[in-house]
Amino acid sequence: MIEMENVQQESKKVIFSAIQPSGTLTLGNYLGALKNWAALQDEFNCIYSVADLHAITVRQEPAKFRKQIIETFALLLAIGIDPQKSLVFIQSQVSQHAELAWILNCNTQFGELSRMTQFKDKSARHADNVNVGLFAYPSLMAADILLYQADLVPVGADQKQHLELSRDIAIRMNNVYGNCFTVPEPYIPKIGARVMSLQDPSKKMSKSDDNINAYVAILDKPEDIMRKFKRAVTDSEACVKYGEGKDGINNLMGIYSAVTGKSYDDIQAEFEGKGYGDFKTAVGEAVVEQLRPIRERFDNLMKDKAYLETIYHDGAAKASYIAGKTLNKIQRKVGFLKR
Ligand code: TYM
Repeated sequence: MIEMENVQQESKKVIFSAIQPSGTLTLGNYLGALKNWAALQDEFNCIYSVADLHAITVRQEPAKFRKQIIETFALLLAIGIDPQKSLVFIQSQVSQHAELAWILNCNTQFGELSRMTQFKDKSARHADNVNVGLFAYPSLMAADILLYQADLVPVGADQKQHLELSRDIAIRMNNVYGNCFTVPEPYIPKIGARVMSLQDPSKKMSKSDDNINAYVAILDKPEDIMRKFKRAVTDSEACVKYGEGKDGINNLMGIYSAVTGKSYDDIQAEFEGKGYGDFKTAVGEAVVEQLRPIRERFDNLMKDKAYLETIYHDGAAKASYIAGKTLNKIQRKVGFLKR
């Protein structure tokens, strides 16, 4: 029997966010989103999901994909998501997401979806598979958020445009049908919102980068992390100072600040008179120490598949209960008959 009283605590604001299980998760995912997810658990009613429905908008190899879904779920627990405090589940196990997405699709304009930069980028990168799901991806994301009547959505800056569309869809539905959804606000960290590639700091750090030195994976070994930071592209000025034209150093300062909590002024003072070599080593070491316990917890969790299964089954049942309430309400408002 599921204890529904614990599912939604009315007094706290609701947070929803999700991450795709599309292979390696990066330091960008961690600093832009996941680190915050864990930090928000005490103050808010947090709901987090592994967005596997989103991930099949690009072709996935089924056996590998299944493994990535469970690994991503384990990683959420490893970074500190506590299933006693937060609701954590796998998106495809809660059928209401796909059902609400259809209704939202019918309330989203072709022109709105055509303007999404991620759609333009991804359709250029996967030109042989520009499927309808890739196009409609943001309305599924809106369904994720709106099903739980979320107030806040902690994401990196790259998801801001999708969040704005979710708000527009919620406002539109509220105007047409009356009082459907809470209109969600993005919750984007000041530092770490856009972690850049270590090889080309004008580009976002991304797991789909062909150059493995461009990104740090959350589960990378310490020696690989150190190598990647030592090879990070900087500039010829040799002065650890935030400024224009110093994208590489700005990025490393952002990472160091997000990991250690030090301000940019403190970092400048700490490395006054020192070269980039010392700075890169310090950033690498700080990242290694932050990620070490996560890797250890992840390794332990992956040895206990039965435990993971219990948590995601329980999560899906609780999520379905909440999502079902919203979906029923919207189905009624749209005019569908009672089941
Ligand atoms: P995804 O899986 O690409 O990324 C998960 C989270 O990581 C953040 N992120 C970054 N932050 C800073 N710097 C980077 N280089 C970086 N790379 C990734 C992302 O902003 C995101 O917060 N569509 C979403 C998943 C999703 C979702 C949702 C999010 C599905 N449904 C509902 C919020 C609400 C995505 O593909 O994220």
